[in-house]
Amino acid sequence: MDAWRGLFLGLMAFMIMKGGEGQLVENFYSSNCPNVEAIVAQAVSTKFSQTFTTIPATLRLFFHDCFVEGCDASVMIASPNSDAEKDSEDNLSLAGDGFDTVIKAKQAVESSCPGIVSCADILAIAARDVVVLAGGPSFNVELGRRDGLISQASRVAGNLPEPDSHLNELNTIFARNNLSQIDMIALSGAHTLGFSHCDRFADRLYSSSTVDPTLDPDYAEQLKAACPRNVDPSIAIDMDPVTPRTFDNVYYQNLVAGKGLFTADQVLFTDSESQPTVVDFANNPGAFNGAFITAMRKLGRVGIKTGNVGEIRRDCTAFNS
Ligand code: HEM
Ligand SMILES: *[C@@H]1O[C@H](CO)[C@@H](O)[C@H](O)[C@H]1NC(C)=O
Ligand SMILES: *[C@@H]1O[C@H](CO)[C@@H](O)[C@H](O)[C@H]1NC(C)=O
Repeated sequence: MDAWRGLFLGLMAFMIMKGGEGQLVENFYSSNCPNVEAIVAQAVSTKFSQTFTTIPATLRLFFHDCFVEGCDASVMIASPNSDAEKDSEDNLSLAGDGFDTVIKAKQAVESSCPGIVSCADILAIAARDVVVLAGGPSFNVELGRRDGLISQASRVAGNLPEPDSHLNELNTIFARNNLSQIDMIALSGAHTLGFSHCDRFADRLYSSSTVDPTLDPDYAEQLKAACPRNVDPSIAIDMDPVTPRTFDNVYYQNLVAGKGLFTADQVLFTDSESQPTVVDFANNPGAFNGAFITAMRKLGRVGIKTGNVGEIRRDCTAFNS
């Protein structure tokens, strides 16, 4: 009888382990790098004290990493042939300060616990930390990701939303990453921070004889003044014209007022299918914060490698071998 009981318990334990495989946990490094979050937080705040761009650059880097090849730090790889993920057309707008934040944090972590913590986890922690530094909500970050072994520019196209995307296209691309429409709307709230280059929205101002009618006329004039036709392509403007350095729900209030910078922002209000969520988040910062936390945790699970898949990179910008 005992033998049967042992076999049964063994089988149960095996099934539980199988079920647990591939899942992230909050305390993943509690025994082998217990201070990892404090070390990363320190590196992020040092970098932030040098430049505000640390905040939007790191948050966007996490998003781009997760949507291409999963949250596996594939975006961090530097290729001598300029054909890695970061070399794709969309890379120009990934500010170098996000990469630098992860590199600095990794160096600090390696000096305490060498070879233990993945670059993918460091980026996930740093993305949470910058939200908090900008005044946004804090949340626990699940850990246990491994770093990927593939990083190719050619895998980027079609996996990231474009500024002229409409609701169906946004929903399709987010759904592929297990994110719902509400998650998508909440994550778009990241545009409460950071900058955009003029060419990403110039078509709304200049592509026809009248400006995009969903743009508030005063805001359109403001945008035209900041971004005249054929403006220097390096010119960038705040994406949230009201509170550009604070993580808050003003982004949604801007959408209600016709002050969404991209079509992909404004359409969240103009499309009747997503409008109620935008109005809710505009009126209720608690609802937005809660939805943002849920969505960030879900974003952090996209395409993860765990167990023996991938590696723990020594240098975030290069594969180990
Ligand atoms: C929903 C579809 C989305 C579209 C179409 C989109 C598109 C863009 C574009 C075109 C820029 C401007 C880049 C530039 O010209 O420098 C930008 C900036 C930014 N995006 Fe998004 N994005 C989307 C979702 C997200 C998500 C989910 C996040 C993060 C959770 C995010 C975070 C950011 C941040 C923080 C910036 C500012 C970057 C900086 O200042 O360096 N975006 N986005
Ligand atoms: C982006 O790609 C271009 C062309 O491949 C390259 O010259 C540039 O250095 C890259 N920028 C970043 C930030 O990696
Ligand atoms: C979406 O979730 C399913 C079920 O948990 C999982 O098998 C799949 O890998 C996930 N997709 C992505 C892109 O993470």
